[in-house]
Amino acid sequence: MTHHRSAWRNRWTFMLATAGSAIGLGNIWKLPYMIGVNGGSAFVLVFIACIFFVGIPLMMTEILLGRRAQKNPLNGIETLAIEANASRHWKYLGGMGMITGLLILSFYSVIGGWVLSFIGAAASGSFVGMDGTQSTANFNQLLASPLTLLFWHTVFMIMTMGVVARGVNSGLEKANNILIPALFAILLILLGYSMSVGDMSASFRFMFSPDFSKITPVAVLSALGHAFFSLSLGMGSVMVYGSYLQRDVSIARATIYIALADTLLGLLIGLAIYALVFANQLAPNAGPGLIFQTLPIAFGQMPSGSLIATLFFILVAFAAWTSAISLVEPTIAWVVENTEISRKIATTILGLIIWLIGISVVFSFNEWQNVTIIFGLNIFDTLDKLTSTILLPLGGLLIAIFAGYFMKNSHVQEELNLHQWSFKVWILMNNVIAPIGIIGVFLYLFKIIQ
Ligand code: PHE
Repeated sequence: MTHHRSAWRNRWTFMLATAGSAIGLGNIWKLPYMIGVNGGSAFVLVFIACIFFVGIPLMMTEILLGRRAQKNPLNGIETLAIEANASRHWKYLGGMGMITGLLILSFYSVIGGWVLSFIGAAASGSFVGMDGTQSTANFNQLLASPLTLLFWHTVFMIMTMGVVARGVNSGLEKANNILIPALFAILLILLGYSMSVGDMSASFRFMFSPDFSKITPVAVLSALGHAFFSLSLGMGSVMVYGSYLQRDVSIARATIYIALADTLLGLLIGLAIYALVFANQLAPNAGPGLIFQTLPIAFGQMPSGSLIATLFFILVAFAAWTSAISLVEPTIAWVVENTEISRKIATTILGLIIWLIGISVVFSFNEWQNVTIIFGLNIFDTLDKLTSTILLPLGGLLIAIFAGYFMKNSHVQEELNLHQWSFKVWILMNNVIAPIGIIGVFLYLFKIIQ
């Protein structure tokens, strides 16, 4: 079948698109509340270690696999397996990634909907003068209304699938140019504000003073899982973006910029949030509603707060949108490259499936709150934990093993094009440190469950 593969216009569009995939609700919504739920600084330090020792090397690996194969993850891995004389069954790794992406999007879209609904709330000035109790009540009211949640989940899905249907390089990436820097800028305003009214030193201590007594195996697993989630690793998003990448771009350099920007953004948001949490006597372990309960208090008090809040939630929605697109792109690329089904039809069908699963997530915040699936987790928690702490790290582990032990080193090096010394460092990280780390964390957890 002849088929045109599109490519990024230049290295910046790739960097921004991949940064757009990485930067999203994971940084702004998830990291802050996970820090609180998992005991603060110990979690943060383990998370940073996971980014450096596992995330960065594996991001390089995913990009190099994508660029070498020039195909969607499933066929791409198959092609590389053939080239390496390895079993074709490796391709199922690509299939696992697709399913992971669909499961993630089904809850990601519901949270994206929360953000969309907060844009209107911010613009209408409803945060003005809010205190902690009112803000919590306001958020709980949103959760208690399945219809409102469903409406915004639907809008978010339509926005996402609308872009995917036209192709990921249809122009959206140009918007990244302005919007990612804008997100950083507004974050700095927020940080400055929460530094002046919040308790920044308590926040700093909470996030960075090393206290390993609070670390639990579940927290370590969550930190590892979140390193994958935050960098969009372990399911093929970065691989499919790498497959549209030209040959002359340095994979290592792009990875380091993207990973640093992503991590920094999450940590800065965390600092801003906890300064507000401690100054307003809120609970650091409030869970998934944390930013939706704390930020309105700050925005409601600062000068021009409604305007800044509106801009803030618009930028967050945008960041979530560009991540959501990357969650489905591997599957759509696979359908389009293998069947006669058009991009539009494939997108519509897939969107409907994800939307339907998302409805059960909507209910898990109200009517089905007490419906548990495994280990006493509700539907949202089950999908979140299953994907972040099991499927993504498992996908990453297999990707590392495939590239490190099945592909020829010379082929890997053709893509990475590193100095001899740096290449050895990558081999050490990809072949030894990352796999041992992931397996170690899994084993540690099995011991606890038994
Ligand atoms: N990295 C995205 C975020 O932080 C989420 C994501 C995970 C996107 C996996 C693609 C793949 O919000």
